[in-house]
Amino acid sequence: MTKRTIIIEPDPILRKKSDAIEKVDDELRKLMDEMLETMYEAPGIGLAAVQIGILKRLIVIDISKEEKKNPIFLINPEIITKSKNKSVYEEGCLSLPGQFAEIERPAECLIKYLDYQGKQKELKATGLMATCVQHEIDHLNGVLFIDYLSKLKKDMIIKRLQKKKKEFKKNIL
Ligand code: NI
Repeated sequence: MTKRTIIIEPDPILRKKSDAIEKVDDELRKLMDEMLETMYEAPGIGLAAVQIGILKRLIVIDISKEEKKNPIFLINPEIITKSKNKSVYEEGCLSLPGQFAEIERPAECLIKYLDYQGKQKELKATGLMATCVQHEIDHLNGVLFIDYLSKLKKDMIIKRLQKKKKEFKKNIL
């Protein structure tokens, strides 16, 4: 399996809308396996295909962390309902390394998606899972968590990342 490179903000591809997947086949499953491996190595608890440069509506999540691995694969996920009550969570993102901010989102949501085998499923997400699912679905629509912050805070984070990217490029020369 190949570990993929995660794209770091600012990058215009992270702002693009991903396309629906038409067929769940072995090729797609191979891509999902690679995404999962990339996410575990990073390490992170969620990864959208756009973050490795593939504009497909595809997400991998595993919020189990240290415990037994429990990955879920979401193909063409859609939010059906969101709760009125909100919760706040300090979010980070593999495409915004080292950056964190408290983001308020609906505390619960019901989603539908196709699973690893292409079967239609529904999931009622609560707690960290609800936050994670909404964060990842945002990626599929070109939205990052910093978009919920004030312009000042958002610009500050982007500036920091820009600087980091420059330094990183210098180091690998
Ligand atoms: Ni993210």
